[in-house]
Amino acid sequence: MAFNEEQFKEIVTEFTIDGERLHEIAASFRQDLQLGLRDVELSSMRMLKSYVGLPGGKETGEYLALDFGGTNVRVFRIRLDGGGKYEIVKRVGRPLIVPGEYDYICKDATAEQMFDFIAELIDEAIDGNHEQKFYLGHTFSFPSTQTNLNNARLIIWTKEFATQGVEGEVANDLLVEALKRRGVNNVEPVAVLNDTVAVLLSAAYKTPDIFIGSIYATGHNTCYLEPSIHDPNGVGLGGMILNLECGNFMKLMPNRFDREYDEGSEKPGEQRFEKMVSGRYMGELFGMAIAELLGEKGKKYGLTSVDMSMMILDESEKLTKASDIIMAKVGRELDFEDVKKVRELAKVIVIRSARLVASSFVAIVWQRAGKGKIVHQHVAVDGSVYEKMPLAKENITKALSELLGEDAGKVDTILDNGGSGLGAAIAAAMAVQK
Ligand code: BGC
Repeated sequence: MAFNEEQFKEIVTEFTIDGERLHEIAASFRQDLQLGLRDVELSSMRMLKSYVGLPGGKETGEYLALDFGGTNVRVFRIRLDGGGKYEIVKRVGRPLIVPGEYDYICKDATAEQMFDFIAELIDEAIDGNHEQKFYLGHTFSFPSTQTNLNNARLIIWTKEFATQGVEGEVANDLLVEALKRRGVNNVEPVAVLNDTVAVLLSAAYKTPDIFIGSIYATGHNTCYLEPSIHDPNGVGLGGMILNLECGNFMKLMPNRFDREYDEGSEKPGEQRFEKMVSGRYMGELFGMAIAELLGEKGKKYGLTSVDMSMMILDESEKLTKASDIIMAKVGRELDFEDVKKVRELAKVIVIRSARLVASSFVAIVWQRAGKGKIVHQHVAVDGSVYEKMPLAKENITKALSELLGEDAGKVDTILDNGGSGLGAAIAAAMAVQK
């Protein structure tokens, strides 16, 4: 069976954002940002205070860093040497879910089980040493309300996490209780921060002219340094970093696939922007579009963004790899023209995602510039989609230049690999050395 040409074109159009629409989205994002700065209730984004500004670069000493925000939990011992230098002394990590063995992110898992698992990993990172004092920075990558740098109350799970007893609770309290249960009383959490904030701290520690940090991975979110906010409970320079939680940005037009996916998701109505752009969801949208083309609407194939990436990378004459993935996941042997179309579909979904992400960066750049000139700057980004997904970075760059016009040369994106861990250590140092 060959795909219906008209239907295919219509689906491609659904996922295409032209230049005019791109400008509208960036403008609407900026407006939402401005509304939120006036009164957070007016914005669709949460715009959460982090109680931390930029590091001064003189942060030093050895710290523990816990990176908890995706399906892998990691713990590092990091020595900060100041002046942008650091060394990872030890690194341990484990997935929160191993199919058939355990699953700490499903509905049946409890907060206790999840945090006991994390405490065990921390114990491994300190080699069971229960004597020496360790200060810990905790990157907790979910929307959380903070009243100071060391206290973050989870508002709502995202990224399809569903563990009971964590929403509404203070993450570091759950961690301290788990550490106590394990007899680890020498590890003191002193800072908790979103992964976007960690990336911004990490990048700014090493490189000047960075005010925006973003994660483009399983989930998506961005933070920036807001110069007008200062708080006696805060540390750091230049104002306060705001965690936008822009995955929740709502003022944009979802297509019918976006709407349908959202309705059947773990949290309908939440994280609409994230569900259009991040790695956790691109494969789902891709699968839905393929099902429609195959006349199997509603069927799930378990396609992931990694599958999309491998298909896009397949430039072989016969598209062998792409065909194999379709065979393995969709269970069909498609003819060459249809495999080409499926690959095309993967591309348009990735390109849409990159353009949307770029439009949010530009909105923040505009907002920070206000009526003044846009300054030279880098937007620090970490995450597998940014790093590994073909077409993602180049389409961000292209969209930045479409939106910024003559200022395009002033703004670029840079990869800050592993910023979630380093940023947590920097935040711990800032808390201890303030
Ligand atoms: C969370 C954010 C996080 C982002 C990237 C989103 O689902 O709400 O807090 O920064 O994922 O990990």
